[in-house]
Amino acid sequence: MMQHNIVPQDLAKKVFAESGLPSIGRAGIREINKLAFDLEAASGKKFIHMELGNPGLPAARVGVEAQIKALQDGVAANYPPIDGAPVLKKEASRFIKNFLDLDVDAANCIPTVGSMQGAFASFMIAGHANAKKNTMLFIDPGFPVHKFQNKVLGIPMEHFDIYEYRGEKLRAKLEEMLSKGNIHSMLYSNPNNPTWVCLTDEELRIIGELANKYDVIVMEDLAYFGMDFRKDYSHPGVAPFQPTVGKYTDQYILMISSSKAFSYAGERCALLGISNKLAQRHYADLKAFCGQEVFLRAILFGALHPLSSGTSHSAQHALAAVLKAVNDGTYNYREDVLEYGRKAELMKKAFIDNGFYITYDEDCGEPIADGFYFTYCYPGFTGADLVEEMMYYGISGISLDTCGSTKQGVRACTSLIQREQIPVLAERLKAFAEDHPVK
Ligand SMILES: Cc1ncc(COP(=O)(O)O)c(C=O)c1O
Repeated sequence: MMQHNIVPQDLAKKVFAESGLPSIGRAGIREINKLAFDLEAASGKKFIHMELGNPGLPAARVGVEAQIKALQDGVAANYPPIDGAPVLKKEASRFIKNFLDLDVDAANCIPTVGSMQGAFASFMIAGHANAKKNTMLFIDPGFPVHKFQNKVLGIPMEHFDIYEYRGEKLRAKLEEMLSKGNIHSMLYSNPNNPTWVCLTDEELRIIGELANKYDVIVMEDLAYFGMDFRKDYSHPGVAPFQPTVGKYTDQYILMISSSKAFSYAGERCALLGISNKLAQRHYADLKAFCGQEVFLRAILFGALHPLSSGTSHSAQHALAAVLKAVNDGTYNYREDVLEYGRKAELMKKAFIDNGFYITYDEDCGEPIADGFYFTYCYPGFTGADLVEEMMYYGISGISLDTCGSTKQGVRACTSLIQREQIPVLAERLKAFAEDHPVK
């Protein structure tokens, strides 16, 4: 028995056995979350929860107020238009212009039930657009649920870990993957969940150029919009803009979530911004799949209609109001979410001071930004072993090998930990280090 365990080993082992999980360290986010709560209940010791990417801030107020008003005005009684409430579409198009410096017509800005549904609909349609190209490419590490979506859709997948292919090296790797001709689309998140890697403009250019060369759709997941805090992308119509592949290709789908940037996760309202060219493109093979040939119509009538017949009407009004405030410059979302970056800095220091190291440590020579996630490991441990071992110290995270990573480590989420818990985290990490001296 290690000297400093917070949760006694025999008790923890009993809870582990009762969970029925084949591997504690490789368990998914929700499973680890449940396990941590079960261990808290059994031991009476509060955990430092770093597993779940729940926003840790109140929802953007302007959204809540607009949503209440929309409900009072009676929108709940009516189905929303399948392509979205006009007021939201207009603000979405403005937002894309103001913060990405891209032109996407309001007609091609579509609300979805969370970015999760936007991704599902995009995989479903892009995956059947061309019978010769049936495979999805993930630029990993990535969000495990996206792979699960492809699995349930029966769409074949390929992936690679970007860590070894940063900068110009990305070109040869993408050539290798795309030149086989079977890839219909590629997806990455930027900033990245789980590593907080932020692709550089040069890398986005390479992705765009190769997408053009091999006629591949780029799905750019902007779930953490503007949250690379090394730069300030939050002023409407003013550079710097959030870097985007849309500068380098005209066949893209932007996935814009309200969950993190606006802390609106509970209402499940996000946006797809489909490039004007892709939206109008005809794909003959889609006809047999969903009765539509035009990409946008296939998304609307072939995917979103059968999936949920649109997105919550009142939530659309909420998001429209948030975007209007951000577009008008009366609400700066960055000032709210910057707190994640400040906590990340303190948390990383606590890890490093106690012998841990940051796994995905830099972006092409620049230290990784402080933000919503970071990754860490401890000498001599695999990610999965570390997840399990740290449970005895009251700390929960998820292993990177559940995210398509080739590197060993654990993902830490900075959102739920409170400032006053950071010294507790530091104490527990110290205890862990004392119990596991590095030879
Ligand atoms: C990379 C990434 N994409 C998509 C999502 C889902 O976003 P939403 O809550 O809008 O469905 C998340 C949520 O954690 C995420 O991390």
